[in-house]
This record gives sequence, structure tokens and C-alpha cells, in this order.
Amino acid sequence: MHLVNVPARLRQLGVIPVVSLDRVESAVPLGEALLAGGLPCVEITFRTMAAEPAIRAISQSFPEILVGAGTVLNEEQVERAIAAGAKFIVLPGFSQAVVNLCRQRNLPVFPGVCTPTDVMMAIEAELAILKFFPADAFGGLKTLKALSAPFPNVEFIPTGGISAANLEEYLSFGKVLACAGSWMVKSELIAAGNFAEITRLTEEAVAIRRRARSE
Ligand code: 3PG
Repeated sequence: MHLVNVPARLRQLGVIPVVSLDRVESAVPLGEALLAGGLPCVEITFRTMAAEPAIRAISQSFPEILVGAGTVLNEEQVERAIAAGAKFIVLPGFSQAVVNLCRQRNLPVFPGVCTPTDVMMAIEAELAILKFFPADAFGGLKTLKALSAPFPNVEFIPTGGISAANLEEYLSFGKVLACAGSWMVKSELIAAGNFAEITRLTEEAVAIRRRARSE
């Protein structure tokens, strides 16, 4: 997994489940549920204490799952994410310090942007794949199309308010590398131990991706 081309793999998978785990014990069943659903990828957010051990648990138990760290806000979290085995870093906004550290450590980093100024900052930092966040609240696909027009070399990962209802239209836009979201790995489902439903929602997302891309 160390040598995986992360952008290429994310493009191929098309969908990144974003999860906040309250208990590390949920990590392995979550990994199993995602694998069963056909989506060997997960972004675990640094919004809970369980994030770091959960990244470690999934990385160690399932080398075939591409594990990233999300909601990374500072350099200390980057170091913890790397030590736990994260293979990519996602942040809600742009941070030069975090981007610099990720680059130094050879780790793909996807900062959040939602304005042309944000995109220009990221381009100056030599980044070409950016999280579009919060996608739906910021005007959805219409805004993304307008935002991407002046930046033909940038690809986006729309995140925030994506669901089975709008995934297909986002994925049909050529500048979308992948979509990320929590809809198939909701905290309530994890708390209830309803991993069968997570697998079902994951399968549904994969089917939508296949349709959107005529696979
Ligand atoms: C994130 O952290 O990237 C978002 O919270 C995911 O957004 P969603 O919960 O609306 O899918």
C-alpha cells in the first residue's frame, strides 16, 4: 500500500467515506463493512479521540484499504496521522504549514477551498487536487462548475452535503476526482452497530459511481 498512487486510486474509487468514530472498537467492523460494500477507502476525521487509534487499527487490519486522516487542523495532527498509518491528509481549509509538512513527508494533502482566492492560494502552493467544501451549502455543482472554469488544471473532491441523491451529478462533472461524505457511514449507524446498512449504502454508492462513469 506504501507505493499506491493516491490520487489515481481515489479517482478510480470515486467515493471517499468520511467517518468520525467515537470508539476505536468500531474501526475493524467498519473496515469489514466497507470492504464488503466494495469501497476499500476511508477518511477518518480528527474530530474524536478515537481517530488516531482507528487509523492505526484499519491500516494494520486491512492493508488493502486506503486510509486517510480528515479534519486535520495542525502539524501535530499530521505527525500523529502519519505515525498511525494514514496515506493522505484532508483539511477543511487551507493551511500553508500543514501543506508544507505533508509535502516534506511525501504525503498527498487535500485542503478545503470554496472561493477563487482559496484556489489561487492552493495553486501557489503547487496543489492541483482540492477539496471543495462545504460543497452543497456553497452552491453545489453550479458553484463548482463556475469555480473550476478559471482553473482548468485543478481537480476537486466535493464534500459536505453529498448523498446518494446527488452523487451521480457530481461524479458526472469531469473536474470531480472523487466525492467525499459521511452519508454511508453515519455515526448513528456505527453507534447502533448497523454495519449491514453501511455495507448496503456503500454498495449503493459504488453502483451510482459505475452508472455515472458508465463502467
Ligand atoms: C467532512 O468533514 O469532510 C464533512 O463533514 C463531510 O460532510 P458530510 O457530513 O456533509 O458528508
